Amino acid sequence: MDFMNSVLIVGSGGREHAILKALLRSDRPLCLYAYPGNPGMERDGCMLVDKKITSWQELADWASMNGIDLTIIGPEAPLVDGAVDVFQSNGLCVFGPSKAAAQIEGSKAFAKELMKKYNIPTASYEIFNDKEEALKYLSAKGAPIVVKVSGLAAGKGAIVCDTEDAARNALSEIFDAKIFGDAGSSVVLEEKMVGEEASIFVITDGRRYKILPAAQDHKAIGDGDTGPNTGGMGAYAPAPLIDSEMLKRIEQEIVVPTLKAMEQEGRRYKGLLYCGIMVTSEGPKVVEYNCRFGDPETQVVLPLVQCDWYELFRSCAVGNMTPTEWVTVPGYCVSVILASKGYPGSYEKGKVITGIEDVEHERSNLDVYHSGTSLDNDDRFITNGGRVLAVSAWAETLIDAITIAYEGVAEINFEGKTFRRDIAAKGLKRLKRDTAGARH
Ligand code: AMP
Ligand code: GLY
Repeated sequence: MDFMNSVLIVGSGGREHAILKALLRSDRPLCLYAYPGNPGMERDGCMLVDKKITSWQELADWASMNGIDLTIIGPEAPLVDGAVDVFQSNGLCVFGPSKAAAQIEGSKAFAKELMKKYNIPTASYEIFNDKEEALKYLSAKGAPIVVKVSGLAAGKGAIVCDTEDAARNALSEIFDAKIFGDAGSSVVLEEKMVGEEASIFVITDGRRYKILPAAQDHKAIGDGDTGPNTGGMGAYAPAPLIDSEMLKRIEQEIVVPTLKAMEQEGRRYKGLLYCGIMVTSEGPKVVEYNCRFGDPETQVVLPLVQCDWYELFRSCAVGNMTPTEWVTVPGYCVSVILASKGYPGSYEKGKVITGIEDVEHERSNLDVYHSGTSLDNDDRFITNGGRVLAVSAWAETLIDAITIAYEGVAEINFEGKTFRRDIAAKGLKRLKRDTAGARH
């Protein structure tokens, strides 16, 4: 029998479920664990670490005791908190940036200073630790302007203000009401960029890298990008916005200089670097960096690459990325998030979900990723979060992928099911414009 490597995935969302499914698609036999994981991951054969963990050291001890060969850390909070450093100091192999490297997401002030120092294109900005100074700058610059808290804010820390009043109000909420707590002790005021956004994932050992197919997220809760921002209501890839010429520019003007800058700063970046890009009339600019895979982009990007994910993650983790066979799957992936009614505000939990298994069995090109689910006493899936499920489909054409994903969406039900009806519509529009007459 083949020797089985053991992998621990840290996190509990659709992103972690997508990482699990990618590992399962590789031929390599693996023994898979998740902490804390979710019921969808468990149903796919992953063992959940059934233990209350109060420190990264405790989880590292568990990993050592259970012979874990590779740990993959999904969310930003453990990375910014230094979980990778703890695992490494215990002699464990772990995929993700060190605490010092994760500052690229953990501190927007750090990321902006890095971009300025190394001439990486981004919006012009100033950093403030004091409200009065920020107000003076605001009066001089005027609106539109973007107000961002420097620390982690679960995707809600950037406020795009079209009027000076809105910006003053945001500053008052951050500095006076302290709605973001310590994350808002430092604030970035920056130029509002105009353009379309894309998510570029770079898997890297800090020197060698691979760029995954470009994706587009849909951050706002409502169709047509209306209403408040969420963690992401759907995604698709590859995004036609990023043609090969634009990708080359992003690689040369952003990816390569960023990796070099991080190494030069003594923060060599190993793991997944997420570059949030705005394609402006002047070219690609960085909106933000994240130190981890995006959610729901991971659900559409990973299925588009066939490779030995275990070997790729492991080799990046040890700083020697091996050129594993890497095949880009033709076609498109579309993922639609099903959310609880009220999200991103308050919502109820515990609603019974029906149809998941039927939908997956009926269609080979459809996957359901769990984010906010749990099991009730009768072993039924119930809602347990704002974003509940991601329904993802692959097809040769974008229009077919959209159709299949929405067929799945129609068959999965729970009280208060909320979703956007226009996921990937902007991609389809662009394809139609670029290649009039062809089938998309
Ligand atoms: P962030 O938290 O930095 O990712 O920002 C969240 C969202 O706010 C981005 O995805 C953009 O849609 C928007 N945003 C952030 N910064 C800017 C900017 N400088 N110009 C325009 N939109 C921005
Ligand atoms: N989908 C956006 C993010 O993961 O930050």
